[in-house]
Parts: sequence; C-alpha cells; structure tokens
Amino acid sequence: MSPVLRRMQATDIPAVHQLETELFPEDAWPLAGFESELAQSDTRTYWVYEDDGAIAGYAGLCTVLPIADVQTIAISPKYQGQGLGRKLLNLMVKTAREQSALDVMLEVRFDNPTAIGLYESMGFTTIHRRARYYKGGVDALIMRLELDAEQGQEEEHTA
Ligand SMILES: CC(C)(COP(=O)(O)OP(=O)(O)OC[C@H]1O[C@@H](n2cnc3c(N)ncnc32)[C@H](O)[C@@H]1OP(=O)(O)O)[C@@H](O)C(=O)NCCC(=O)NCCS
Repeated sequence: MSPVLRRMQATDIPAVHQLETELFPEDAWPLAGFESELAQSDTRTYWVYEDDGAIAGYAGLCTVLPIADVQTIAISPKYQGQGLGRKLLNLMVKTAREQSALDVMLEVRFDNPTAIGLYESMGFTTIHRRARYYKGGVDALIMRLELDAEQGQEEEHTA
C-alpha cells in the first residue's frame, strides 16, 4: 500500500516527534513545538503521509502574508527517494499560492545536499548564508521561491 497524504492531527504528534528525533538528531523540535504549531491553525498548515498506521513523512507551512515559510519537511528513511518529499514541497508551494503569498522561504543546513538539490530543482535560490546557525556550527542557507513574478504577469494579461 502506498502512503496516504492527509492533514496532521494532534494524535499524530508522538509518532511525528519520534521521526523528528531520528531525522534531526542535533536540532529536533521538542514535542511541545509541534503542539504549539498545530494550535496556531490560523497561520499553520501541517500534513502527514501515513502508511498502514505509521508516519512516513510530514511537512508544515506558516503563512503570514506576504511570506510563506516552510517550517519543516521530512520523509522517513524507508520512504526517501520515492518522490514523497517533492510532492510535499509541491503541495506547500501550491498552498502558499492559494493563500496569496508572494514568496516561499526556507532554511536548510549547508551540509544537506539532498534537501538543497530538491529545493533548487523546484526553483528556490539562496539569498543568504547565515554562519554557524545550527548546533555544531553548521551554516544555514536561506532560500526563496518568488511567486509574485508569475502572478504579476497574469495580472497584466487580465488588466
Ligand atoms: C530532503 C527530503 C525531505 C527529500 O525527500 P525525498 O522523498 O527523499 O525526496 P524525493 O524522492 O522527492 O526526491 C526529490 C529530490 O531530492 C534529491 N534526492 C533524493 N534522494 C536523494 C539522494 N539519496 N541523494 C541525492 N539526492 C537525492 C533529488 O534531487 C530528487 O530529485 P529527483 O528524484 O528528481 O532526482 C528527505 O530526504 C528527508 O526527509 N531528509 C531528512 C530530513 C531533512 O533533511 N529535511 C529537510 C530539512 S531542510
């Protein structure tokens, strides 16, 4: 059976947090971090991939116009490299567009070429490098996808 995509619920948090500590051993969010995010439902949208009762991946978006921020994106090792991460990111970009955001922003560790490769392939560009941002002194890349250029052109045509 292939993983099913749906909105994250409070009951998912323990399993999501378990996966978070596995995937981000140095900078995992605490369990309360996910609770706080889900509680802010006016600005946050979170999804999970579920496969036979287990969490295969999750992602979250925070939109405070005009910016949408990718808060997190993660796929369980067993499910990586099957296109699920790209689908989640596509969904977040689509959601940001629907919410009328002009830019999608994200932060990524400089030593994470898989994630950086995914983001670049979707049109994100690095706009800033923040030195020693993560534990262990690893730099962060701040990446942006501009949504407004395309929307602006559409508006010109319909004006
Ligand atoms: C980054 C991550 C979300 C990507 O999800 P995924 O489902 O494995 O990725 P996909 O299968 O959708 O592949 C998307 C792209 O990532 C890159 N990629 C995926 N697996 C890769 C690998 N093993 N080596 C190098 N690049 C890889 C490729 O560019 C790929 O595009 P392609 O399939 O067109 O070649 C996932 O690897 C992950 O959860 N990693 C650990 C947590 C993490 O780093 N999150 C991001 C924090 S900013």
